[in-house]
Amino acid sequence: MGNFLAGKVVAVTGAGRGIGRAVALAAAAEGARVVVNDYGVSVDGASPSSEVAESVVKEIEAAGGEAVAVADDVSTMAGGRRVVDVALSAYGRLDGVVCVAGILRERMLFNMSEEEWDPVVATHLKGTFTVFRAAAAVMRKQRAGTLIGFTSGNHQGSVSQANYSAAKGGIISLVRSAALGLHKYGVTANAVAPVARTRMSAGVPMELAEIGEPEDVAALVVYLLSDRAREQGITGQVYTAAGAKIAVWAQPRELRSAYAEGGSWTPERIAEVLPGAVGVDPMPMLAQLAGMERAAREGARPNG
Ligand SMILES: NC(=O)c1ccc[n+]([C@@H]2O[C@H](COP(=O)([O-])OP(=O)(O)OC[C@H]3O[C@@H](n4cnc5c(N)ncnc54)[C@H](O)[C@@H]3O)[C@@H](O)[C@H]2O)c1
Repeated sequence: MGNFLAGKVVAVTGAGRGIGRAVALAAAAEGARVVVNDYGVSVDGASPSSEVAESVVKEIEAAGGEAVAVADDVSTMAGGRRVVDVALSAYGRLDGVVCVAGILRERMLFNMSEEEWDPVVATHLKGTFTVFRAAAAVMRKQRAGTLIGFTSGNHQGSVSQANYSAAKGGIISLVRSAALGLHKYGVTANAVAPVARTRMSAGVPMELAEIGEPEDVAALVVYLLSDRAREQGITGQVYTAAGAKIAVWAQPRELRSAYAEGGSWTPERIAEVLPGAVGVDPMPMLAQLAGMERAAREGARPNG
């Protein structure tokens, strides 16, 4: 066992499978005591089971670590609060939370139902809020702590997962808000966009050019939870972890601007000025669409 997280208490949601499980195991292997949360559902969020979280606790204990299971649904305020309360009652403190829990309900926007939209946004975006909300109150008093949200490259947009994409974009804004609002209390917040082989990524209808294992993502998360990352001033960032690759995403910023002569615009004047002076920022995913559609027609898995 290493000691990168020695003495720390870390709660991980969605820790029963895939990337969350790898994060929980890696954090425990580096000395953290871990709250393993998982509602134990299928990829679309159905059929909850408490066994999934408990089996990861057993794995951690078998490896000589300390962990406790919470099988609650983090899309409820009570579920998010319980993750934090169990950390405090079992271990007396909370140094980091990692919100990995997620589900998918794929449908084109023009066919998407409320039952496909609401649970996806509730699991990802609200499920990050509920845990961040309860953890932030504890960390503010401690004057230390780390919040980690899970986003996706799909926050750029998605052909058939507008619900998931919107939730993942929301998580980035939530993380940046947490980084800003908690900075003066010594609390950091960052987001991770993983690409890893799990049951969730197995359903992606394209060949991912850069993909790795959940353990590759876990190494980055353990670093972000550590004092080293705090000392290095890492907050408000979005990092991709895809196998051997780690990348940082740009902060949103205005690219080009134009100002109206006399202080106000007319639609006619905008039509004359906007294309040349302000223009567009080409959408990288739009450029990939034609190739993806062609490959889908031919039954191949296009590169993405
Ligand atoms: N695998 C990838 O390549 C990839 C790519 C981009 C983003 N992500 C994101 O990474 C995260 C982990 O994905 P994964 O591939 O490991 O998926 P996974 O399906 O293997 O694991 C997700 C876990 O979350 C749990 N969960 C679902 N709803 C929950 C709830 N309401 N409360 C508590 N637990 C709940 C599930 O039971 C499951 O064990 C997700 O947020 C996903 O969107 C994954």
